[in-house]
Amino acid sequence: MLSRRNALKAGVTTGMVGGAGLLVPYLPHAAADTSGTADAGTPGPTATGTVPPAVIPQFAVPLTVPPVLSPTSTSATTDYYTVTMQKAYTTIVPGTKTEVYTYNGSFPGPTIKARFQRRVVVKQINNLGTPVSVHLHGGNVPQDSDGSPMNLIAPGGARNYTYPNDQDNATLWIHDHAHHMESENVYRGLTSLYLLCDDLERSLPLPGGEYDVPLILRDGRFGANGQLIYELDDHLLRNTILVNGRPWPYFQVAARKYRFRILNGSNSRIFSLALSDGTSFVQIGSDGGLLEKPNATANLMLSPGERADVVIDFSRYPIGTRLVLTNPGMPGPPEIGQVLRFDVTRTAPDPSEVPDRLGELAAPQLATVNRSFVLRMDEDGRPNAAAYINDKTYDANRIDTQIAWGTTEVWTVSNANQYAPHNFHLHQVQFRVLERNGKAPDPSEGGLKDTVRLFPGEAVKLLITFDSYEGVYPYHCHLFDHGAMGMMGNMQIS
Ligand code: C2O
Ligand code: CU
Ligand code: CU
Repeated sequence: MLSRRNALKAGVTTGMVGGAGLLVPYLPHAAADTSGTADAGTPGPTATGTVPPAVIPQFAVPLTVPPVLSPTSTSATTDYYTVTMQKAYTTIVPGTKTEVYTYNGSFPGPTIKARFQRRVVVKQINNLGTPVSVHLHGGNVPQDSDGSPMNLIAPGGARNYTYPNDQDNATLWIHDHAHHMESENVYRGLTSLYLLCDDLERSLPLPGGEYDVPLILRDGRFGANGQLIYELDDHLLRNTILVNGRPWPYFQVAARKYRFRILNGSNSRIFSLALSDGTSFVQIGSDGGLLEKPNATANLMLSPGERADVVIDFSRYPIGTRLVLTNPGMPGPPEIGQVLRFDVTRTAPDPSEVPDRLGELAAPQLATVNRSFVLRMDEDGRPNAAAYINDKTYDANRIDTQIAWGTTEVWTVSNANQYAPHNFHLHQVQFRVLERNGKAPDPSEGGLKDTVRLFPGEAVKLLITFDSYEGVYPYHCHLFDHGAMGMMGNMQIS
């Protein structure tokens, strides 16, 4: 049970229980004590507990879009990029400068645009003063470029990551993965989009150019001095929503269709997105690329690490309309119920269309191996709470799952917790969701996925084919705080 002490500590008050019987309180397990956790003593810019909370107005700043990174050189086969990880300062709390961790000084980092079967090599230089590992989330890449937790770049060091881009169009992303530090490193800003485009996507008349807009969503907790406050598993006190690094921005749109690439880049927050007028929008893609056909929906659930491409048609609104992207019914303080405001300010021509068919997914292979994975964490308020997969915490040197190359498997993944939500992410592969709680999944989960949410008591069946690179890759809960508490395992494909 959730103890009163911990409930108070985590600021659990009202608004905890959402609709549909799915949403339950996020449990404040480890908030109690992180002092004994290895590596947790790395000081952030702010000593926690002493700084009064920031007051940040909503819808007071315009949305900005991260810059697109230009290659430093190109060859017949390859685009070469150089990225420097460094601290930078940005304004989030009015009148202050927030210290953030960045790729190339940008918060979030610059977007890399890649093309199918054209190689990308990124030289990452670590000027942060803390070890890092750079992971391409959703990317099918060789082990030595995967950016796994133990494959670190020391402070002052650099390394090249090679991405073959031998997979379908997809909205991928880059983030830190340094073992035990990824949670804080990503929280402080190490996040970038990586858009992989192919001929199929290019042939479709979807909204493009300035009408194809990334929305990187996350939460955070700020002190009045402007600094980000990081405490392990502190999700209920993270009361500020950032979109592309700006607090609750407004976005002036034309009365036409836009494509939005939405990434949930939060450590722990699950978003349940809706428009304030209750109307539907059209989901066209998920983690691993475009869906087979568009999915009209009024609500979109995204757990940390998941992506969705959606099209919103603002032509149905008169000029002057203000429409809010909301996050109703989710646990946390009331401010987190708002995300972004769209202000319809002008007309514009719109030659774009959402075709009835967006793509074709490969026929599922027949599975010959079944496995099960039980996700669980201590949620009884004990100090130094840990998190487990099949009752084990992560050991970087242990192989948990041995996979024969070429095999197709069904993985049944379940959440054995009473309060804590989880999700499940595998490196290297895109999978299909066969079932959620014994039923066919919702169309939003019908495409290629690399991360799947699991509320307490839920179970999913995943169909996964391991027929690309051999090697050792991790799988884990993508609520980064849980990964840092041990909810991670290794698979060896050979
Ligand atoms: Cu988003 Cu192990 O990664
Ligand atoms: Cu990943
Ligand atoms: Cu989890």
